[in-house]
Amino acid sequence: MKIAMLTSGGDCQGLNATMRGVAKTLYNEIDDLTIYGITDGYKGLIEGNYRKLKKEDFSGILTLGGTILGTSRQPFKKMQIIEENGVDKVKAMKETYNKLGLDCLVILGGNGTHKTANLLSCEGLNVITLPKTIDNDLWGTDVTFGFHSAIDVATEVIDRIHTTATSHGRIFVIEIMGHKAGWLTLYSGIAGGADIILIPEIPYDINKIKCEIEKRTAENKGFSIIAVAEGAISVEESKMSKKEFKQSRSEMKQSSIAYRLADEIAEITNHEVRVAVPGHVQRGGAPNPYDRVLCTRFGSYAAGLITEKRFGNMVGLKNGETVAVPLNEVAGKLKNVPADDQAVMAARKVGISFGD
Ligand code: F6P
Repeated sequence: MKIAMLTSGGDCQGLNATMRGVAKTLYNEIDDLTIYGITDGYKGLIEGNYRKLKKEDFSGILTLGGTILGTSRQPFKKMQIIEENGVDKVKAMKETYNKLGLDCLVILGGNGTHKTANLLSCEGLNVITLPKTIDNDLWGTDVTFGFHSAIDVATEVIDRIHTTATSHGRIFVIEIMGHKAGWLTLYSGIAGGADIILIPEIPYDINKIKCEIEKRTAENKGFSIIAVAEGAISVEESKMSKKEFKQSRSEMKQSSIAYRLADEIAEITNHEVRVAVPGHVQRGGAPNPYDRVLCTRFGSYAAGLITEKRFGNMVGLKNGETVAVPLNEVAGKLKNVPADDQAVMAARKVGISFGD
């Protein structure tokens, strides 16, 4: 059997652990196995950059952050467009697949990656995918790998900010990653005891934030922790068209939402405000134990799908069980935080404000 693996899009904790799960299971079950590693995601598949991997390549990588294969972002919307260099990307990817004589291509990635994976599957390639992203926004799985490790990092940031914010009686705005989904901010915000959590799914009203800070001041709580998702939007912005929103954000003088909020809060309250942006730290380093287990389960389940020839599926977790989800159901769908999510409801009940 010949398979190839590729990691695509932004990296996260657990990519290597997942590939190890696939490879170790297959090596244990199949005698004649060749595994190729495609370099830098779809870019390597297009350009024919790959290397033959050895069994030893999958040892010692359970805890290793990043990806041993390298990754890159190759936007789906450009996949079927022939650009100036004249390369037909879809054709080129199929050629690499056929040249290697693959039985299956294993793709680890997030939302954009899954659209291309589905396209390749529709083009007749045998594809199995695995859900990677700290954003946890992939439809079809309750959880993606990387998410829980990122929660650990973001929570530690909030914990550390908490002590200095308390000492100085300051307001801190902490910007958490997550693209257009609020999962990471919601979970790390609750875990870190944030006073206000702002997520894209619940547009905020700056006056409500002011009221919340004033309420805390009246209770002799001189500091406040605001966990804001990088994709958070105000109520006014939620009413804008896509074009108007883009225009208004391009005119924003601050470099990100956290800095804009900090300026606004400093203007309307008498507090000192500081900003903390942990950024890519959130997806760097080793996967946590939860992710190591999840990646091992996902990887070994993916190996089972390969041996059973159940191609065209993403591996997911549903109610604690590993499952196969058809790629055409996953591609192009986002999993956002529902307004009535139990974690949101519990947070509200303990007094966390969502700025709404
Ligand atoms: O999708 C993962 C993610 O880390 C998002 O949370 C973030 O918006 C984005 O990637 C950052 O992308 P890049 O690594 O290209 O800066």
